[in-house]
Amino acid sequence: MLFFSSGFPENLSAMAMVCLSDFEAYAKKYLPKIAWDFFAAGADECSTRDENILAYKRIHFRPRMLRDVSVMDTRTKLLGTEISFPVGIAPTGFHQLAWPDGEKSTARAANAMNTCYIASTYSTCTLEEISAAAPGGFRWFQLYIHRNRAVSQQLVQRAEALGFQGLVLTADLPYTGKRRDDVRNGFRLPPHMKLKNLEGAFEGDDCSEYGLPPNSLDPSVTWNDIYWLQSLTRLPIIIKGILTKEDAELAVRHGAQGIIVSNHGGRQLDGGPATIDALSEVVEAVQGRIEVYLDGGIRKGSDVLKALALGAKCVFIGRPALWGLAYKGEEGLQDVLKILHDEFRLSMALAGCASVSEIGRHLVQFSKL
Ligand code: FNR
Repeated sequence: MLFFSSGFPENLSAMAMVCLSDFEAYAKKYLPKIAWDFFAAGADECSTRDENILAYKRIHFRPRMLRDVSVMDTRTKLLGTEISFPVGIAPTGFHQLAWPDGEKSTARAANAMNTCYIASTYSTCTLEEISAAAPGGFRWFQLYIHRNRAVSQQLVQRAEALGFQGLVLTADLPYTGKRRDDVRNGFRLPPHMKLKNLEGAFEGDDCSEYGLPPNSLDPSVTWNDIYWLQSLTRLPIIIKGILTKEDAELAVRHGAQGIIVSNHGGRQLDGGPATIDALSEVVEAVQGRIEVYLDGGIRKGSDVLKALALGAKCVFIGRPALWGLAYKGEEGLQDVLKILHDEFRLSMALAGCASVSEIGRHLVQFSKL
């Protein structure tokens, strides 16, 4: 018999980690408060962060029956590359705050689960270390454009040379949103952690803002800078942070190959829509010309199914990946992905879909309040 003292037993292997909330509870209990607060933070009152999750509860399934779901196929493709199921790892910074091996563990777990990992500009391991940790893994590189354009250019070209297969431009962070707990805690990276990909780039500067000089990002970035990126690289460009049909149309017109409908996990403009609520508008505007993905609030396999039903080709998880790392590094993140995979497969089957291609708009309805 197992005895559970205060919440979690000492013997981690004896714990029943059943759903992603179990990993969240573990991370909250065991991470240093300053790290937990940084991961959990939303902007201002956190309305958008919380909406990302609540909005799924307003969408209901129209499941179909008697459709032979004895053989299930959850595979799909991202810009032509096959992944085992339509969930990838969203770019998040500072993985060493969750686990000592940081992004190297993330890369290994994503590779083991045969899915896509978007490595952040703000990684605590170098792109070279990430590549070497999981050779041949399917990875995209996420870019923040800095005022010092030479720094950004060099990062893009390093990523391409290392075999990253896509460039994700984050469009929703001209300035960092106001995250109250980080301000209260005076959040800074611990001295032994570095933004490894930017080391040397800001030598001698006061690196007080998230390990960077204040205002190092370039807030003057516009759609025309996509042409600049295209002149630097042959990688497909995916724009992350789109929430409207107007911007979706501009992304297509500027030659982007994908869009990630995202509000940065509610960490930027508070008061914007849940991503699942913005998805349909973007999908309708794009009309199948490029792929549309989504992140924000994915916590269950049925959330993945709802997002795909509303037109997303794939979804990405941000915080749940960090909770998995905090639990047991590479193994913990694999556990998170396995649970999501199992839940997704079960939801598909119970809704009457044997393969991803059978998922469509007919599967969901919005509840009338
Ligand atoms: C992020 N996000 C993010 N996005 C990005 O483009 N570059 C980055 O470096 C980061 N860093 C980051 C750190 C942390 C701690 C969080 C929680 C988020 C946003 C991320 O890619 C994604 O949009 C959200 O995390 C998705 O929401 P969920 O899955 O966390 O609800």
